[in-house]
Amino acid sequence: MSTLVAPSILSADFANLGRDIMRLEEAQADWIHIDVMDGHFVPNLTFGPPVISAIRSCTALPFDVHLMIENPEREVAQYREAGADILTVHAEACRHLERTLTQIRQLGAKAGVALNPGTHESSIEYVGDVIDLVLLMTVNPGFGGQTFLPQVLRKIENVQKWLEKIGRTDVRIEVDGGITGETAKACVAAGASVLVAGSAIFRAPSFHAAVTDLRGF
Ligand code: DX5
Ligand code: ZN
Repeated sequence: MSTLVAPSILSADFANLGRDIMRLEEAQADWIHIDVMDGHFVPNLTFGPPVISAIRSCTALPFDVHLMIENPEREVAQYREAGADILTVHAEACRHLERTLTQIRQLGAKAGVALNPGTHESSIEYVGDVIDLVLLMTVNPGFGGQTFLPQVLRKIENVQKWLEKIGRTDVRIEVDGGITGETAKACVAAGASVLVAGSAIFRAPSFHAAVTDLRGF
C-alpha cells in the first residue's frame, strides 16, 4: 500500500488558512488533516463545522477530520455536511463505538477509529467490520509539536497483524503526532500507511519537499 501524507492544519497560519490549504494541494499532499478539539476531551479548542465549510472550497483534496471531542455521535452529521470525507472518532470518547462508526458510514463518509497512546488495541477488536481507518496517536492528543512516543510502534505492528488476520488489509493505519523523517520510517516499517504531520511540514522551508520526503518512507 502506498504511503499517504496528511498535513495537519493545526500548525497552519490561521489568519491565512485558505492560502495554506491551497499551498498544501500544490505541494501534492494526499489528504488535509483537520484536528477538531472541544476543550473537554482534550485541553485545547480549534475548529468546528463553520470553519470546515468555509475552507471546503479551497481544495478538492479529501478532508480527514479527526474528532477529539466528547459525544461525537451528536455531531458527526454536522461535520459530514460541512465537508468531511473521513470522520475519525476516539474509542475513548464513544459510549457506543460500533453504533457511532456505523452512523458515520451511513452518512456516506469513511469511518475511522482513533486510540490514544495509553489505550490498548483490544478496544477495537469487535469493530473490525465497520471501520475504514485506524488512527494510532503517537503523542497524547491536544497539541502540535510534541515528541513521538516509541512505545506505540508495537501497537502499530499488533494492529497490522490483527487487520491481516481478520481479512481487512484494505484498512489503513494512520499515525499522528511527532511524525518526522526518522519516526515516519519506523511507523511505515511497523505497518502505518498514512502519515499525519503538522510541524514537520509547516516548519519546513518547502511544503513540497517535506511532503515528498515523508511519502518516500
Ligand atoms: C494532536 C493532533 C495532531 C497534531 C500533529 O492532537 O491530532 O494532528 O497536529 O502535530 P505534529 O505533527 O506537530 O506533532
Ligand atoms: Zn490529528
